[in-house]
Amino acid sequence: MTQRMIEITSPNFLPETELPETINSPALFGNSNPLALEIGCGIGDFMVQLARQNPGTNFLAIDIYNKGCHKTCQRIDQAGLDNVRVLRMEARYLLVKHFEKQSLAAVYINCPDPWPKKRHRRRRLVGQEFLELVRYFLVPGGDLYFSTDFVDYAEQVAEALPCVAGFHNCLEAPLVHDLPGYPLSKYMHRFLQLGQPIHFIHYRRQTDFTCPELPPEVTRGFRVRWSQAENE
Ligand SMILES: C[S@@+](CC[C@H](N)C(=O)[O-])C[C@H]1O[C@@H](n2cnc3c(N)ncnc32)[C@H](O)[C@@H]1O
Repeated sequence: MTQRMIEITSPNFLPETELPETINSPALFGNSNPLALEIGCGIGDFMVQLARQNPGTNFLAIDIYNKGCHKTCQRIDQAGLDNVRVLRMEARYLLVKHFEKQSLAAVYINCPDPWPKKRHRRRRLVGQEFLELVRYFLVPGGDLYFSTDFVDYAEQVAEALPCVAGFHNCLEAPLVHDLPGYPLSKYMHRFLQLGQPIHFIHYRRQTDFTCPELPPEVTRGFRVRWSQAENE
């Protein structure tokens, strides 16, 4: 079912039509602070906490969900934060079309859609190919945070990451259930209240790694853009 589109008028919302060809801190924030990306920001509760904790970092919060972007903007505006911009775009499309190699200080992915049915698992956002994509756009020393309530998704990512050259684990175990200082999102709260643990992963791009260029099929091969994805 197609949902009613909410017009987002927040000054912190970036319509796709107004995006600069290359996204970076000077273009979006007028400064050269590090730039970090949250993929699938939902209602923006995680982002508000993270941006408050890190006033010297600029953040992009993206989601394919119009209502989520609207709520995220409301939260950012109410909090008076000037280091966050919100985009309604599909993650892979945005990365490949608008970012330069090694331009992100961190990527955050919290409770991505789990696609729990076995036959749907290939729809999951985070797999080997996506991790290689993220690695390409992270600066040397840049961080990747992943969290999920789905143990088999967590295990899938924890098994894939050691196979992606140029990353190292920042934690003492492949998965942990507590990441001190890491804000909790709406979905994390929901599952913790049900007594279900959240599985956290934190990897970092090695500083001495020379990242290969992206294969051409990666830059072409998006199954859906956000406008289609939201109506699926
Ligand atoms: C289960 S919700 C989790 C929301 C939030 N991160 C949290 O933890 O509360 C997953 C979110 O990811 C968004 N999403 C899914 N695939 C995406 C993609 N390829 N690019 C951007 N956002 C995506 C969905 O629209 C949804 O809002």
